Amino acid sequence: SEALSKVKGCASGWVEFTCKYPKPNVKYQSIDVVTPKKTIRSFGKNVWENKGRVSLYHDTRNKKLRVAIKQLQHEDFGDYQCKFHQRSYSSQDTEEMKLGVETDGCQKQFIQTAYRTAKTTITCDYTGNKYKFFCKDNGFICEDILSTKSCLKSKGTFTLTETNSSFSVSISNVSSHDAGVYRCGVETHEGSYRAALTKIQLEVEATITKVTKFLTVGQNLTYWCRYPNGAPINKIICKGEDPSICETLVSTAQRNKNTGKFSMKEDKNKRNVTITVREVTTDDTGTYWCGVKSTDKTGSNKFFHKLVMTVASLTSTTTPASSSQSTTVSAERPGDSQFIITVLVIVGVVLLLLVLILILIYK
Ligand SMILES: *[C@@H]1O[C@H](CO)[C@@H](O)[C@H](O)[C@H]1NC(C)=O
Ligand SMILES: *[C@@H]1O[C@H](CO)[C@@H](O)[C@H](O)[C@H]1NC(C)=O
Ligand SMILES: *[C@@H]1O[C@H](CO)[C@@H](O)[C@H](O)[C@H]1NC(C)=O
Ligand SMILES: *[C@@H]1O[C@H](CO)[C@@H](O)[C@H](O)[C@H]1NC(C)=O
Repeated sequence: SEALSKVKGCASGWVEFTCKYPKPNVKYQSIDVVTPKKTIRSFGKNVWENKGRVSLYHDTRNKKLRVAIKQLQHEDFGDYQCKFHQRSYSSQDTEEMKLGVETDGCQKQFIQTAYRTAKTTITCDYTGNKYKFFCKDNGFICEDILSTKSCLKSKGTFTLTETNSSFSVSISNVSSHDAGVYRCGVETHEGSYRAALTKIQLEVEATITKVTKFLTVGQNLTYWCRYPNGAPINKIICKGEDPSICETLVSTAQRNKNTGKFSMKEDKNKRNVTITVREVTTDDTGTYWCGVKSTDKTGSNKFFHKLVMTVASLTSTTTPASSSQSTTVSAERPGDSQFIITVLVIVGVVLLLLVLILILIYK
């Protein structure tokens, strides 16, 4: 029996660990996995065998048994043994594991709403130094999208960003195909186990109202945004390309909501919020989201209205026009001036000849 290996998983997450062959040169016929509750036997070779929440894969090529446990429950935490049998059950070699509870970065399901063609960022809290991965659930397994184990930091519309206290994955130009269940997870550097920390249900909203406004500096803008029945109380205006991490500028929960550049007036009967933006400047150019603040930690804020505002200063609108005019003028000029110079040269030469002829005649 080898030294006890430690494996850690999150309650209601999943974990996958391996039991290596205790003796690499032995051909094992079957393997028993003794869990804290019961014993499960693997007879198969190089196929997944599903035994309820536990799945086993006897990998004869890499000489190991993969053990995957879904929806971890309290009864799953404890001691595990992999008993490797040769032909006769009398002789067996044993590997032992301890499955403990992960405390870093575990979170229950989070529901995030994303909007078609916009960006969305899924944030995973984790401070440890294991490899981090991001995968999408296909109903059977969680297919890897990106991992810090490889140096590839983006794939298609997905980009992974790592900081000291978290890692996040952004999806740009979200489409309806991106909806589904994703997981953030960690993997030990030696590959002894992989564990899912967080489950994220991504919902993609296609029916958001989109408005584009072109304004000049100093103008006021008034627009309104309607919200559905039963929406949370606190309405917000948020600025940024990415609504999942945008900056809240004003909310109806603020006491002095009618001061400052942005103000909101709510008509609860019509489920209508009127927003006034006072005396815009070029810094106000950007994307604004109108929606509701989430009331709990299991879901993201929801938005119903997207405004793309472009503010131009009066001088900068006239400059490109006049410069394009002057370029068209100067583009015509070379031909004209060449013609004039040619005419002048010919006239000059003719005059000079006339003067010479006159001088010759009068001499
Ligand atoms: C992250 O960690 C590194 C070294 O561990 C440190 O130098 C750096 O300042 C940290 N960054 C932040 C933002 O805490
Ligand atoms: C966004 O994705 C759609 C298809 O889903 C594609 O037609 C479009 O060109 C993409 N836009 C950008 C800016 O990549
Ligand atoms: C914008 O609104 C403010 C305050 O409501 C007002 O004083 C100002 O005259 C308005 N400006 C324009 C250009 O309408
Ligand atoms: C919302 O309120 C504004 C004025 O405050 C009004 O012009 C608009 O028609 C209202 N929208 C709806 C759907 O009631």
